[in-house]
Amino acid sequence: MTDLTIPSTPTRFEPPADLAASANVTAEAYARAESDADGFWAEQAERLTWAEPFTQVLDWSDAPRARWFVDGKLNAAYNCVDRHVEAGRGDKVAFHFVGEPGDTRDITYAELKDDVSRAANALTSLGVGSGDLVAIYLPMIPEAIVAMLACARIGATHTVVFGGFSAEALASRIEDCRAKLVITSDGGYRRGAPSPLKPAVDAALSRLGGQSPVDHVLVVRRTGEYVPFDDATDLWWHDVVGSASPEHTPEAFDAEHPLYVMYSSGTTGKPKGILHTTGGYLTGAAYTHHAVFDLKPDTDVYWCTADIGWVTGHSYIVYGPLANGVTQVLYEGTPDSPHRGRWWEIIERYGVTLFYTAPTAIRTFMKWGREIPDTYDLSSLRLLGSVGEPINPEAYLWYRSVIGGDRCPVVDTWWQTETGQMMISPLPGVTAGKPGSAMRPLPGIGADVVDEEGRSVPNGSRGYLVLTKPWPAMLRTLWQDDERFVETYWTRFADLGYYFAGDGAKKDEDGDIWILGRVDDVMNVSGHRLSTSEIESALVSHPRVAEAAVVGAADETTGQAVVAYVILRSGDGNNGEALTQELRSHVAKEIGAIAKPRQITIVPELPKTRSGKIMRRLLRDVAEGRDVGDTTTLSDPSVMALIANRDTESA
Ligand code: WT7
Repeated sequence: MTDLTIPSTPTRFEPPADLAASANVTAEAYARAESDADGFWAEQAERLTWAEPFTQVLDWSDAPRARWFVDGKLNAAYNCVDRHVEAGRGDKVAFHFVGEPGDTRDITYAELKDDVSRAANALTSLGVGSGDLVAIYLPMIPEAIVAMLACARIGATHTVVFGGFSAEALASRIEDCRAKLVITSDGGYRRGAPSPLKPAVDAALSRLGGQSPVDHVLVVRRTGEYVPFDDATDLWWHDVVGSASPEHTPEAFDAEHPLYVMYSSGTTGKPKGILHTTGGYLTGAAYTHHAVFDLKPDTDVYWCTADIGWVTGHSYIVYGPLANGVTQVLYEGTPDSPHRGRWWEIIERYGVTLFYTAPTAIRTFMKWGREIPDTYDLSSLRLLGSVGEPINPEAYLWYRSVIGGDRCPVVDTWWQTETGQMMISPLPGVTAGKPGSAMRPLPGIGADVVDEEGRSVPNGSRGYLVLTKPWPAMLRTLWQDDERFVETYWTRFADLGYYFAGDGAKKDEDGDIWILGRVDDVMNVSGHRLSTSEIESALVSHPRVAEAAVVGAADETTGQAVVAYVILRSGDGNNGEALTQELRSHVAKEIGAIAKPRQITIVPELPKTRSGKIMRRLLRDVAEGRDVGDTTTLSDPSVMALIANRDTESA
């Protein structure tokens, strides 16, 4: 993580008076939720349209397995699309789509309804139905959202795999969830050029061979580049969806019907399939989107720059915002294509009012210089959000001042793939903002910082971040691995019934929460979660590597960067630059380019405790240029001198 030094007297920005005066949520929400949690969440669930009402808000009798909105039935796609059309808002723009090459498309809610209905009919005709798994591997194009909603509409469970993941990573996810259908595209545009996707699907399926659960691959044409086509499995989206009827009656599903599985890195090599269900998830996403962004759906234009391959895209591009009927921007490409002012140009063009991005992007813009955003009219903005990693105070202040014109509050939102919804964040009309702090748990949410025994730490102290009560969008389990679900999140503070978030945190003198970063072997690189052991397994799968240790080292732009130490197998071959380059590419092939180590150092030994555990803390010290400190628990303390030497050689 970026080394966060917590200022002793942090700057405070009070909520702007006009925003506070007409805020969606006021201070009394906290007390209301505290005194009657069930009543509070029932009220939030009423933002949705239920086909059958729920009879109980929360059934926690089988904790930590939650059932929210018991007996309620609803359709998530109906809630995100149809009901807005039925309410006479069909002509409202749902998405201003901006393709990287400059093509644009405005899609209204009525058009979205037709598209989702066609896709739902097409999926049904391909034999996909309720309970089936569909893998979606697409760029940031409208079809990605249509595909997700079409699944939701027919009760199929989607698993979106980020387009930056490799064929290997895609294959393991398809295999783990037994996806029947893969929806992909010929490619998308990245940094000014078409970047293919379909070949990775082909490679994933051929890797799975006879074990492949996939019946069909549905291919969206985006770039028009040549793609190899297997007539036995492959179908064009424009043929199958294009010819389907736009009439489709959504079926209501149980509130606990599986909506999606999102794979995320954990502390072991195998990604976890985080399961989200329907009623509670949609309630949590819609409520927080309304509350934290102070959303005024009639006038706001909202833009979240995340990719739909991550949970932020699921909760805050697809489900929350669409349930709330907002108009939003959807942008396909990178911030520097074709020029470094692209995002600000988009904000100016569409009059974006609410903007949600990640600290790593902000730090990149800081490096590029304020002259770039300064040439655009950003006066439409009224609120800025941050997510994915701790935002260092410098980045917060730059964001607030240069992008927000010193007038927009910044909401630093802490949450996780597992939580499904924002958990700790200022309420913009109520809570002051302190650069670097996510502030307080939202109304209805219980969060605390505790010591090893689970006791709440006093103000001014550090500890573990826990969630003390269930919340509607909480993960329900890990796909096909309920045991790991209980063990990962609910065992550490089992007696207290707390959810263990895996983050370290501090309560400042006012009791406000500062997130310090992961306390487990999970790294956060550019707001993307990566597991040290997953990258180590990838390195060890290379024939030249005997052993590997990976750490996340502080990085000015990406928050953390992947730094690897490897021991080679004996034998000949190049040991220098060519090999480390080859190993970096090998990791990209096994996982994806996001996991490529920034630096690989070849070492003769790794620091281990007497029981054989790699001491990553020491390696992190070396990687961050610190003195390695106490090495007395090492089985062979001289190892560190050897590694420190190699590190300076390779730098
Ligand atoms: C981890 C979750 C939330 C969606 C994107 C990432 C870190 C997230 C913040 C924040 C400090 C943050 C935590 C968390 N994190 N938001 N506002 N301040 N840290 O989701 O991949 O599930 O990662 O991201 O370490 O545990 P994710």
